[in-house]
Amino acid sequence: HRKAKTIAIDGPAAAGKSSVGLALAQHLGYLFFDTGVMYRAITLLALEQGVPLDDEEALGVLAETTIIDVQPPAGHDDGRYYTVLVGARDITWALRTPQVDASVSYVAAHPRVRLALTAQQRRIGQRGRVVMVGRDIGTVVMPDADIKFYLDASPEERARRRYDELVARGQEADYDAILADLRERDRLDSTRAVAPLRRAPDAIYVDTTGLSRDEVVERLLDLLGAREEVSSS
Ligand code: CDP
Ligand code: CDP
Repeated sequence: HRKAKTIAIDGPAAAGKSSVGLALAQHLGYLFFDTGVMYRAITLLALEQGVPLDDEEALGVLAETTIIDVQPPAGHDDGRYYTVLVGARDITWALRTPQVDASVSYVAAHPRVRLALTAQQRRIGQRGRVVMVGRDIGTVVMPDADIKFYLDASPEERARRRYDELVARGQEADYDAILADLRERDRLDSTRAVAPLRRAPDAIYVDTTGLSRDEVVERLLDLLGAREEVSSS
């Protein structure tokens, strides 16, 4: 009996990668690792330090030297999936601003930034028992993952999810601006030269439009079980 030890989840913004990935990891007792956090953290620091988004050298140095610590959410009941620290500073919510949303895909397009962050992600992946989510996990970070999922949903549904999430958190939200940001990030992420957002040939495509988080989790667990039955017979 062979059990999937490494699970890769990719897909566009608000496809449900983090919420579904976390629930799946909790169900399996695996580590959940959201690689988007790392690109967002470098982007936040660059914005704060006034580093131009086209300065590959400076952004690369930032990615190579910043220690991003992702911990369980313990002690917070504000709906966070994890706590992100740089040094002693909690940047969990600072990573979710419209400014970071609008800038992160430019930072993530630089090969030198990707090289530094991908190396750290691979080290985490090699330990196994992990659900890793992002844009290039199945294609670049863990091409040998035991199972790969590609989550998708219509842009309108994804924008509605983000809108509802902000409103639930008591924040201001503009549906049209969110939809425009998602479309632009999808475009930048899927057209960049290095590690673009792309479904790996062996990834299982799951259209989540109209499905709740729990329905998607159920489907992934079914697919995991089916895969295990095939490989053990
Ligand atoms: O949650 P959402 O899907 O909106 O974004 P995220 O997963 O936090 O990722 C933010 C951005 O980081 C993406 O739009 C990509 O530009 C970049 N990213 C990437 O290039 N590669 C990854 N493995 C993960 C994120
Ligand atoms: O990580 P990613 O950007 O792909 O998406 P997410 O942060 O997991 O999900 C975005 C929002 O959509 C969250 O508020 C989820 O609870 C919600 N969601 C949903 O309503 N239905 C799903 N099938 C999956 C996620």
